[in-house]
Amino acid sequence: MTVKTLAIASDHGGVELKSAIIDALKERGIEVFDLGTNGSASVDYPDYAQAVAKSIVDGKAEAGILVCGSGIGMSIAANRFPEVRAALVHDRLSAELCRLHNNANVLCLGARLLGDATALDCVDAFISTDFEGGRHEGRIAKMS
Ligand code: RB5
Repeated sequence: MTVKTLAIASDHGGVELKSAIIDALKERGIEVFDLGTNGSASVDYPDYAQAVAKSIVDGKAEAGILVCGSGIGMSIAANRFPEVRAALVHDRLSAELCRLHNNANVLCLGARLLGDATALDCVDAFISTDFEGGRHEGRIAKMS
């Protein structure tokens, strides 16, 4: 995916990993919209998932990344939007597959489950892998 604009958000469980991801994305020349949260105060992950999903629906960002403790809540909340295909991944291969087969446009990560190196490897795979198309096109069309 040749992504130029990306929206990112986390709840309180993912603030530090979010910062590391933002640094890595900016180093690659990607314009990043940080939609929060930016402190340790407890917040509700649906609010942040919805902010990233809306930025994709509105065309402000081409892709999104969501981080919470497990990544589970973020993925459930983001997938309420028909335009969003959010994938919760745990390693590089699952991050590659969510692009190759599912054309995922939002990557969800669990900051309490992944080390930073693995999470950043997932991000690298997500932004550098193209959708395979072909037989996967019709399957994706059935979800929209
Ligand atoms: C917050 O404590 C935690 O529930 C949240 O980060 C996430 O793991 C939810 O799915």
